[in-house]
Amino acid sequence: MKIIAYGIRDDERPYVEEWSKEQGIEVKAVKELLTDETVDQAEGFDGAVVYQQKPYTASVLDKLAKFGITNLSLRNVGVDNVDADAVKRNGFKVTNVPAYSPAAIAEFTVTELMRLLRHTPQYANRQAKGDLQWAPDIATELNTLTVGVIATGRIGRAAMQIYRGFGAKIVAYDVFHNPELEKEGIYVDTLDELYKQADVISLHAPATKENFHMLNAEAFGKMKDGVYILNPARGDLIDTDDLIAALDSGKVAGAALDVYEKEVGIFNADFGSFDAIPDERLKNLMKRENVLVSPHIAFYTKTAVRNMVQFALNNNKQLIETGKAENVVSFD
Ligand code: COI
Repeated sequence: MKIIAYGIRDDERPYVEEWSKEQGIEVKAVKELLTDETVDQAEGFDGAVVYQQKPYTASVLDKLAKFGITNLSLRNVGVDNVDADAVKRNGFKVTNVPAYSPAAIAEFTVTELMRLLRHTPQYANRQAKGDLQWAPDIATELNTLTVGVIATGRIGRAAMQIYRGFGAKIVAYDVFHNPELEKEGIYVDTLDELYKQADVISLHAPATKENFHMLNAEAFGKMKDGVYILNPARGDLIDTDDLIAALDSGKVAGAALDVYEKEVGIFNADFGSFDAIPDERLKNLMKRENVLVSPHIAFYTKTAVRNMVQFALNNNKQLIETGKAENVVSFD
C-alpha cells in the first residue's frame, strides 16, 4: 500500500513519519497542494491524504480517478471546498476528520471572547504608548451573560462546557438536537429566539448553501443591542458588509473572527505590511479595537495537528484495505 499526502507543512511532517514507521506503510509527503499542476504525482498511489482551503476541483478529481485513485482523506472537518458532483460521478470515497480536537477551537473561541469582554487588546495598545490608565470602558463579566450557541456538534458542545465553567447561561439552536442537551432544556426553537436572548453569539455551524450569510442585516436587527459575535467556524456564515454596518452603529459591541469569507489566499500569507494586505474590508475590521481577527488558527494546536494527520492516514488506510472507513462523508 502506498499513500500520497499533499500540502504537508513542516509542523505536520514528524506526525506523518511517526505514523508511517508505526504502520510500516509508505507515505509520500509533498509540500504542494493538490492542483492540476501536482495531481500527476499521485499516479501509482492507492490513496491521497489532503488538506487545503483552495477548492478540490472537478478537473483534479477527474484526473485522480483516471489514475484509479478514489480514496481521498481530508485532514480537516469542512468539506465545503470539495466538488460534490465530481465526487459522485467518479465514485470517490471521501473521509474527513470530524473531531481532531474540538477543545482546540472551543478554548480559542472563549479566549477571544474574554479578550473582548475585558478589553485586553485596548489595554495592550495603550500600554505600548506608555498609557497605563484604566482607559477603556468598564468590563462585563461572562457569568452575567447569556451565550447563544449556534450548532451543537462536538465543537459547539466543547465551547458550551467552557462557557458553563465561567457561569454563563446557555441557549442553543440546532436543527438536530443532541439528546443530552435536549434533556437540559437549553434549545430554543428558532434562531430569532436565540437572537432575542443572547448577549454573545457563538457560531459553530458548517457552511452550507442554506446558511450562507445567515448573520446579515436582518439577523443583526433581531439581536440585542451590544451583542458580541464569535465566528471560529466559516467566513460565509457572516455577511461582512452587514457586520461592518452593525459595528458602526454599535449594534454589535465586538467580534472575534477566526475566519473571513474571502480568507483564501490571504490568511496564512505574509504581505510584509498592513497596507499591503489586499482586502479593504478585512483591513477595516482589523483596524477596530473591538474586532479580533485571527488567521484561522483556532484549530492550530499540537494535539489537533497530530490527530488531523494521523486520523486522516488511518481513514485512508481503512478505505484502501476495506473500501469502508468510519468517517466517510456523504455528498448527497
Ligand atoms: C476545518 O477543520 O475545517 C478547519 O476549519 C480548520 C482548518 C483550517 C484546518
